[in-house]
Formats: sequence, structure tokens, C-alpha cells
Amino acid sequence: MSVLAIIGGSGFAALPGLEVEESRPVETRYGATSASLIRGLLNGQPLCFLARHGAEHRLAPHRINYRANIQALVDAGCSSVVALGAVGGIHPSCPPGTLCVPDQLIDYTYGRVQSFYNDEADGVCHVDFSEPYSPVLRQQLIAAAAVAETPLYEGGTYGVSQGPRLETAAEIRRMARDGCDLVGMTAMPEAALARERDLDYATLAFVVNWGAGLSDEAITMDAINEQIGCCADAIGRLLAVFAEQRAALSG
Ligand code: HPA
Repeated sequence: MSVLAIIGGSGFAALPGLEVEESRPVETRYGATSASLIRGLLNGQPLCFLARHGAEHRLAPHRINYRANIQALVDAGCSSVVALGAVGGIHPSCPPGTLCVPDQLIDYTYGRVQSFYNDEADGVCHVDFSEPYSPVLRQQLIAAAAVAETPLYEGGTYGVSQGPRLETAAEIRRMARDGCDLVGMTAMPEAALARERDLDYATLAFVVNWGAGLSDEAITMDAINEQIGCCADAIGRLLAVFAEQRAALSG
């Protein structure tokens, strides 16, 4: 069984329940990671944890060094990554508070370094990205949610917007027409870089607001932070079961 990594998104600069054994800053050939790489035990199971936005949430989605983060996990021996991500809900079945394991994404970002094959010297590489998320890891998360009795929206398409501003109502209507069920800012290029490095990668998304224009209420950071707090317990329970079940699978 592969070494597991968890990338923490908004609200998860630390992982609830993680017993930290080691925390060290990492400099890769692509630069520094967003935060120190943490090794620890979750429910007794070893894993690596990295805070995507930095320990003090200082990095906006478009400023994250996604290549350094993914390379650091590879260098640490990780081969599976569960990426936590706060998102807006677009599909009517994804109100705030919903946990989701999307199975598709659409990339609306621009100006981010999208590939490890960025320079002529790196050569050309076209990875298969038909299924951007690992079906095996997704099923393991879905199974863990069932055991943890955590309701989960299985599947769905994550639309990745550039940010850092939130979307206009018209942009959300367009994303809905495109088939997006969720909107967030960090799944790309993270998922594609993970694929280029042959990592199993899945997103555990949690809905913290309705997409712009889908509710009468203004989207405020206070409301988003309150909703993150509401999701934290369920995410912690699910991940604790997930870590335990993976250990059981590896015998
Ligand atoms: N849009 C984009 N990213 C987000 C949102 C949103 O509404 N909520 C949380 N992350």
C-alpha cells in the first residue's frame, strides 16, 4: 500500500487528529512548498500532510507553487494524495455542508504553470487525463464515508476558476450549462501535476457556499468560515476511517 498524503485546503492549515512526528520546510527543484511538510499519524496510520495555502493561509490559489508541492510529496515517497478543497455548490444537490468526491473537472484557470514539462529541456509529455481523479482512491473515500456515516455526494464535475475573486452570477450560470456541479480554485493544475508524476489523486471537496447568484444571500468570508467549521468534524471522521481502512487493505 502506498504512502498517503493529504493536502489541506482552506480551513485545514492543520489536520484535525494528526499526531505530528516531524515538520520540516522543503525546497524542491521547483522552489519551496507552501508550508512545512508534516509527517505524522492519523488514527495510528502514517501519512504526510501539506497545507496548500501555507501555515497562515497567506497564499491565494493563483500564487501557490503547485509544482513544488506535488514534487515534495513525490520526493517524500508518497504515491496517493487526498486533496481537501473548499468549494461553492452549483448542482441543486450540493448545498453548503455537502461533502463531495468529484469524478470530473473542467479547468477555467489561466496563467498558472500547468506542467512539469514546461521547458524545451523537459521534452513533451501528454498524459491521459480522461479520468482526472483516481477511481480507486475515490471508491476508498466513498467506502470510508459509509462507515463514518458521513453523507457524501458521489461524483460530480469540479469547475476550477482562476480567482482569487469569486465568480459573477453569469459565470456560474455558464459553468452550470457546461456541466459543473462545484466551483473551486485549486484543483488545477494540482490534479494534472499529480497525474504527470503518476500519483493517485482524489479530491474531497466540501461545499461552503452556494455559487454566485444561486442564493439571495451575499457570499461573505464570515459565512464561508462558519461553514468550514461545520464541515470539519465530518471530514476528520471520514479521514480517520479512510486511513484505518487503507492500513487494513495493506495487511
Ligand atoms: N467559488 C470559487 N471557489 C470557492 C467558492 C466559490 O464560490 N467557495 C469556496 N471556494
